[in-house]
Formats: sequence, structure tokens, C-alpha cells
Amino acid sequence: MRIVRTVAGMRAAVADARAKGASVGLVPTMGALHDGHLSLIRRARAENDLVVMSLFVNPTQFGPSEDLDAYPRDEARDVELAGHAGADIVFAPSVDEVYPRGFSTTVHVAGITEVLDGAHRGASHFDGVATVVTKLFQMVAPDAAYFGQKDAQQVLVIQRLVRDLDMPVRIVPCPIVREPDGLAMSSRNVYLDAAARAQATALNRALDAAEAAVAQGRTDAPAVIGAARDVLAGAGVEAEYLELRSPDDLRTLDRVDGAALLAVAARVGRARLIDNRILEAAP
Ligand code: PAF
Repeated sequence: MRIVRTVAGMRAAVADARAKGASVGLVPTMGALHDGHLSLIRRARAENDLVVMSLFVNPTQFGPSEDLDAYPRDEARDVELAGHAGADIVFAPSVDEVYPRGFSTTVHVAGITEVLDGAHRGASHFDGVATVVTKLFQMVAPDAAYFGQKDAQQVLVIQRLVRDLDMPVRIVPCPIVREPDGLAMSSRNVYLDAAARAQATALNRALDAAEAAVAQGRTDAPAVIGAARDVLAGAGVEAEYLELRSPDDLRTLDRVDGAALLAVAARVGRARLIDNRILEAAP
């Protein structure tokens, strides 16, 4: 297991592996690893010869009022966990290495970045994600890249980016990993105190309630969203958004007819949490 900090070093390591015929899998992260990240590394390990995990807290995807400075950082712990899960290289560049003086390019994916997290975190959030992921793909040149489905909108944005810019990388969305009580794993869960941690389970329970409504044939958006909202209200959680959208292009849906994405975001204690579920109506 090696730590690489420069773009030149990263390119050299991949060129060396490719010369031996190796396939390359990339797991982009901002560190503060949890079992969700480790599941991505294990999947990449199972499918590639060389596994690179990037560890970079990307400043351009944080809004001015967000938690960039407070974002949990523990490189030594992350490197150890990544190694145990099967990463060969941790690519941990500095901010200056990724955004050298004079950097002035932004990658913007239109049409699917203005809603949900884009509407609530600010339009520049997904520009920051799209720009850094484009750069990571240029630096590492992976065959495949692994992303968690908890960030469903992020996965769609990256799939669109790769398609539109003809990037030769396969995007592999991976299932949400949950705590035993259903809370989706997130680096931001460390911000939850005991009371907020208990409240936070309402997000997954709300999605369960929506799924149960659909299973009972209540497929119109007000019924589905209402079932979820009742659970959130019962736990004293106010949604930042709770919306039913197409899983393909995020257009608003007025009913579950085929697959539908129910996406939720809420502030719970000091944490901003997101979760989602694909709902499917019986044919
Ligand atoms: O999902 C994340 O952790 C980040 O948005 C990503 C994809 C590593 C880009 O900074």
C-alpha cells in the first residue's frame, strides 16, 4: 500500500501497472471513511488489478456556510482502513496540487444539478463535484470508478458527465450501506449527538413508510410523500426537501409508475443528512 501525493506520481504508478496489463479501479473519497466507503473499495478490489482510493477534501464543492474547515480529517486512520479493505494506492494530493495557482476551469452539468441538493446547497456544489471528478479521472485514468448510491444525484451527475464528455470510464453505482438501525452511513454522522442520532433514524423509517404506501397501492405523489413526511414529523425532523423524481433525469413525478426516486435531506442536530430509496409500483 502506497500513498501518492502528486499528479506525476499518480500517472507514473498507473502507467507502470498498465504496462503490465493491469485494469485500474478508482474509489473517489473525501476521507472520514466508514463502511460505505469500504464496500466501494472491496467492490473495486474484486473487479480490478490495481485499486486507487483518492482522499481529497474538495474545497470547491462546499458552500460558504458549509463545514469545509470542520470536515472530519484523519489521514492515518483512512490509509489504514483503505489498505485493509484492499486499496493498493491512496492518492492524497494537496489543494495546490489539484488547484494550482491560476486554475480557472469549471465543469458544469446542466439540467440535473439545479434541483434537490443543487437547489439547497447552492448551484456551485455540483460544479465543484463535476470539476474535481473530471480532474481525478484525468489524473488516474481508471477503467472503472465506484460511487455510493446514497448520493443518488451525484451518481447521475457523474454518469451524465462521463457520457457527455466521452470519458472512457465505467461508473459503478453501489448500494447504500446502513447502520443496524437503518441510518445511512455518512461521514457527517460523527456530528450527531445521542439525541440527534436517535432522531436521524427517521429518514430511513420515512422511506420505509413511503415504500409501504406504494406496496399498498397508494402510488400518487401526495400519498407517498405524505407517508414519509408523517414519520419525519413524528420524530420532530423537518425535511429540507422530500421529493419524488425520475431516477433517470430527476424530473418531478406525480406518481410512482415504474421506478421512482424518493429523495430526502434534513438537518438533524449539527448534521445535514441525505437519504433516498428507489420505489417501484407493481406492474
Ligand atoms: O462523494 C464524495 O465523497 C465526493 O463528492 C467526491 C465524489 C469524492 C468528490 O469530491
